[in-house]
Amino acid sequence: MTQGTPPPPTYSTDVGFGVDVGGSGVKGGLVDLTTGQLIGDRIKILTPQPSTPDAVAATVAEIIRQAKWEGPVGITLPSVVTGGVARTAANIDSSWIGTDARALFSTALGERHVTVLNDADAAGIAEDRFGAAADTPGLVILVTFGTGIGSAILHNGVLLPNTELGHMEIDGMEAEHRAASSIKEKNDWSYKRWAREVSLVLERIEALLWPDLFIAGGGISRKHEKWIPLLTNDTPVVAAELRNTAGIVGAAYAAKTGATP
Ligand code: BGC
Repeated sequence: MTQGTPPPPTYSTDVGFGVDVGGSGVKGGLVDLTTGQLIGDRIKILTPQPSTPDAVAATVAEIIRQAKWEGPVGITLPSVVTGGVARTAANIDSSWIGTDARALFSTALGERHVTVLNDADAAGIAEDRFGAAADTPGLVILVTFGTGIGSAILHNGVLLPNTELGHMEIDGMEAEHRAASSIKEKNDWSYKRWAREVSLVLERIEALLWPDLFIAGGGISRKHEKWIPLLTNDTPVVAAELRNTAGIVGAAYAAKTGATP
């Protein structure tokens, strides 16, 4: 055999690519869609500032270029997304509102097939399929606690997209202004104090939707043993398992299966 550049790797058809667009970082990775595991390293580039649609699209294109991926791509946004159009913008530039994100990314990636969905919805798909709820039938609700609160509702594996429970008003205040993990930090609250607010939010969701299981996601779910035992709501709460890969995995899965809003 001749020496030289090795041939590009070949993957089974059960491989996809996901990109998770957040307020501080844009992260992408190749995903084994039979296991929900990343293949190789996650690629991370800081979110451009201002995080306008064109600047973010160029960043996503750079990640795809570095990964040498040529297939379809799933992409999350911290936005309500209907029919590929971003309808809100939390922690990204407000010029996203009304942008046809699917058309924008598709053009930036050489006219390829792209699927765009809300970040929490993508994480919910991943946890429901491969993570904390992998064997749980019925109604599963993922709630992510970060700068804001995101939500994903799945019934027997089927997503009800764009639920935005973080904006639900509880006693005159939006849920995410009460119980996002950023509020804990800002007020320098103990886990015990913060868990009171989280319980209030989960209890309100329970009263309206009666889930079988809550999954708690976001960075603070890494310290779940410090606060999940303090919650006073009725429904079992488990910590997300895929952690910082859930958005990437769920986006790749959605692109492959068409499980999209
Ligand atoms: C946004 C959601 C998003 C969540 C987490 C909320 O403020 O409204 O669309 O899923 O933050 O990023």
